Amino acid sequence: QIAAASGHTVVLVDQSDEILKKSTKGIEESLKRVTKKKFADKPEAGAEFIKKTLKNLTTSTDGASVVHSTDLVIEAIVENLEVKNHLFKTLDKFAPERTIFASNTSSLQITTMANATTRQDRFGGLHFFNPVPMMKLVEVIRTPMTSQKTFESLMDFSKAVGKSPVSCKDTPGFIVNRLLVPYMMEAVRLFERGDASKEDIDVAMKLGAGYPMGPFELLDYVGLDTSKYIIDGWHSLEPNNPLFAPSPLLNKLVEEKKLGKKTGEGFYKY
Ligand code: 3HC
Repeated sequence: QIAAASGHTVVLVDQSDEILKKSTKGIEESLKRVTKKKFADKPEAGAEFIKKTLKNLTTSTDGASVVHSTDLVIEAIVENLEVKNHLFKTLDKFAPERTIFASNTSSLQITTMANATTRQDRFGGLHFFNPVPMMKLVEVIRTPMTSQKTFESLMDFSKAVGKSPVSCKDTPGFIVNRLLVPYMMEAVRLFERGDASKEDIDVAMKLGAGYPMGPFELLDYVGLDTSKYIIDGWHSLEPNNPLFAPSPLLNKLVEEKKLGKKTGEGFYKY
């Protein structure tokens, strides 16, 4: 959405036409929200902006067949290293020499993904934040193999789509998630111990720390499955780190398919 809105030609790739239809509809809805504010006094210019943005966007279910004309690939699929490596390996065979590959992973190692390809120097991380149209930050991750030119291209692209980039080494959680995920897990543990209700914890962090959402609202917003993937991955890397300890309550909710806002229930009902 933000790449198309800033004049880039975008091909959105996913597994089925049904998902792509749903995604395109989601982008249209989000564009309407953005436009309502940005073009409050000029509805016609707003409608033109939406039309122009959507014109920049096409869809495909076959990444290998569309990657030949692509300057930048941004991967944002399931948080599973094997699946990601397989995708990158396939795209690497069909992408031109110049194409830069980037992962939007929340917590997995970029270096491992880069090593699944033959373009380690043209590989980095571009980590966006939910909801992407509103959140101004992008974390640009460079591995020891990422070239200066690639790094600069990723920084430039982030600015071109209207974001403020920060850079970080290829370390678990980069900057934001390394701080945010342990904080959210500590909130779950506080609740699990019965020290405070989830409602009170959320109110406390909003009114006492100025956060726009409380930790339980944010967990539901990000998705409990995503949060579990992150914490499980880190726990396997550092089993003795108490900040990375799994939570029985989080595991139970994910097992019950209560994944947050997207499934209608997580810590709260929607
Ligand atoms: N698309 C377009 N616009 C959107 C939007 C979307 N998906 N979601 C919200 N907005 C817009 C609304 O239209 C609204 O615009 P308006 O002011 O013109 O009406 C504006 O955002 C504010 O929305 P709301 O009034 O509905 O609600 P809030 O004022 O509470 O703001 C929020 C919503 C921006 C989501 C705010 O609650 C917030 O900043 N929450 C914290 C989000 C956060 O921490 N994200 C990071 C998560 S971690 C992550 O993503 C990393 C990953 O790796 C796990």
